[in-house]
Amino acid sequence: MNVTDLWQSRMEALQSKASVRILALESSCDETAAAVVENGRTVCSSVIFSQVDVHALYGGVVPEIASRAHVDACDRVIDQALKEAGMTLRDVDALAVTYGPGLVGALLTGVSCMKGLSYATGLPLIPVNHIEGHVSANYISTPELVPPFLCLVVSGGHSHLVRVEDYGRYTLLGQTVDDAAGEAFDKGARALGLAYPGGPLLSRLAEGGDASALKLPRPNPEGRYDFSFSGLKTAFINACHKLEQRGEALPRADFAASFQQAIVSSLCEKALWAVQDTGLHTLCLAGGVSANRLLREQMQAIADREGFRLCLPELWLCTDNAAMIGSAAYYRMRQGTLAPLTLNAVPSLTLL
Ligand code: KG4
Ligand code: ZN
Repeated sequence: MNVTDLWQSRMEALQSKASVRILALESSCDETAAAVVENGRTVCSSVIFSQVDVHALYGGVVPEIASRAHVDACDRVIDQALKEAGMTLRDVDALAVTYGPGLVGALLTGVSCMKGLSYATGLPLIPVNHIEGHVSANYISTPELVPPFLCLVVSGGHSHLVRVEDYGRYTLLGQTVDDAAGEAFDKGARALGLAYPGGPLLSRLAEGGDASALKLPRPNPEGRYDFSFSGLKTAFINACHKLEQRGEALPRADFAASFQQAIVSSLCEKALWAVQDTGLHTLCLAGGVSANRLLREQMQAIADREGFRLCLPELWLCTDNAAMIGSAAYYRMRQGTLAPLTLNAVPSLTLL
């Protein structure tokens, strides 16, 4: 039997198997991560190797450095994930890998690694969309969650408000028309002299600040559920520069609090409209920015007031990890999605 037929027959056998364990790899940006996930919901192990210290020296992710660091780390995180799960490759039923969106070199590293492993072991390989991975983190943190539900995906590269109709089936309600929410956080943080990635640092700095100190524009793009953070970011950076040029000290905590509040208010407002308009009573958050404390607290307060269910992934499941990829892969496997030998990285892959 050739390897393609072997993958196909193994994939078919998985459809009726009671327990399916997937070994997943994530390498789309600056984290090399591997995990073993059972039936899409149970994390047997999760290993995350962050390159953030290296990129912080340059104030952002340097793609070439990221690719090389992934090459170094891939085998190691896979070995460690298997070890922590108390398994070997023989205990795994399928493999999964993020093939987009992300940095092309970073993605290619993971795709090549898992294609090689799939060829060598005969284990079928499931290609996963990184954004779908973020949405699926909620299947792990809320085990009883089933579609349909609404999901606000806010990460360093994406800001999407989607209706999850079914596993792997989405309707886009809105998205950012310019910068992503995480990107805005990082650029605002840089203006305050904070290191990369600035989102979490800005959030910490904001804790002692007065959110009403700096008036910032609240952009309202044409689409009812669309976001825009670029004008807000520019107004914020200009306000910082103006004080610096005058030689005045920046009220850093107040500025951080005002900027954070402006982003969070916009996200909360649009998400609430989506709940009210669609009549769906479950809203999930996903992506790195959903680790933001103010966003979690204010969205929870709105959910309590309006009487809808809010699902908040645990903090480690908000930022990049491979467990979410293993979860998404399980539901793709159930639909028979199998990577061809020609699987390539798709840097601008979309969710829909
Ligand atoms: O989902 P993620 O780990 O990677 C991408 O797919 O982009 O998101 C990373 C983004 C960064 O922009 C980071 O600054 C932001 O998420 N982030 C936060 C917080 N934690 C991570 N932004 C605001 N507050 C946080 N606590
Ligand atoms: Zn991500």
